[in-house]
Amino acid sequence: MNFRIATIPGDGIGPEVIKETIQVLEKIGEMFTHTFTFTEVLMGGCAIDATGHPLPQETIDECKKSDSVLLGAVGGPKWDTLPGHLRPETGLLGIRGALELFSNLRPAVLHEALRDACPLKPEIIGEGIDICVVRELTGGMYFGERGRRPGKMGEEGYDTEAYSVGEVERIVRNAFEIAQKRGKKLTSVDKANVLESSRVWREVVIEVAKDYPDVTLEHMLVDNAAMQLVRNPRQFDVMVTTNMFGDILSDEASMITGSIGMLPSASLGATKLGMYEPIHGSAPDIAGQNKANPIATILSAAMMLRYSFDLEKEAQVIEDAVTKVLSQNYRTGDIMSKGMTLVGTTEMGQLIIQNM
Ligand code: IPM
Ligand code: MG
Repeated sequence: MNFRIATIPGDGIGPEVIKETIQVLEKIGEMFTHTFTFTEVLMGGCAIDATGHPLPQETIDECKKSDSVLLGAVGGPKWDTLPGHLRPETGLLGIRGALELFSNLRPAVLHEALRDACPLKPEIIGEGIDICVVRELTGGMYFGERGRRPGKMGEEGYDTEAYSVGEVERIVRNAFEIAQKRGKKLTSVDKANVLESSRVWREVVIEVAKDYPDVTLEHMLVDNAAMQLVRNPRQFDVMVTTNMFGDILSDEASMITGSIGMLPSASLGATKLGMYEPIHGSAPDIAGQNKANPIATILSAAMMLRYSFDLEKEAQVIEDAVTKVLSQNYRTGDIMSKGMTLVGTTEMGQLIIQNM
């Protein structure tokens, strides 16, 4: 089969991890006779430098014409002082909105070989951690009205958290369907004891739950959820929450697996077109030094094969190769521990390809 993939290498370590991932996909193409056509487009800081804008229209058009989008990372200190609407991050929010990617899947899985990297005590890790955070991605405070106005004690900045029934319903259905294919448990995280938007959220979750009687539903307040994630992460299977809470909890969930450099993500909408990216950022401090861990981006490509292209077997080949390389004790700096073999970005990419 033929697939058209828009690639957004972006800034910092983005181009390095995308380069390895393209090679992995090309290997999949050879093994299973698929053709992947890659078209590189600009977003983030590099787009600001080249065009004056973090998300050129051309990039949106190319992504819409493609079967999926592969993203490295955007941002860096060079662009941190620009006004809000011109920051690299605005490009990221813009593309999520333009492609209507409302559902963001962030699996937090502890690889057996990386148990030592997990900051939690062995008795808390137990049999292992395998959580899927489903974050709403095109609503809430990230997209609500914001601005500045006179306030009680001088100028104030404001951001608005709002969720409509339809917006909650589509993400929650998505989460229930994912839970059905996993451990059949869904935790909906909100702040319904304080926020009206959370009360709407909770009402919709209760209503939608009627269609998924085989899934055990639980509601949890966000402050408690943050605490439970480190106290007893094994109680979670699928967590569904708002854009803002999901941003925070997915970082926490990724850290308890010890390896933010390992975790992929998928952003999905109503069609098969999805955007796939590592959870980590652009890591400007190690950019261009062949130090970055390409695994999160490579695993994101596996998610692309699974969710956008329905190529489950091919996705599995990549995931198995990653597991094998880790069990052969190869590590990039971020997941390095005593007795392991330190490798760079390109070596890690090549090792994964050799094990496919
Ligand atoms: C993420 C990031 C982004 C977000 C930033 C870079 C805008 O933290 O994908 O989690 O807040 O969504
Ligand atoms: Mg984040």
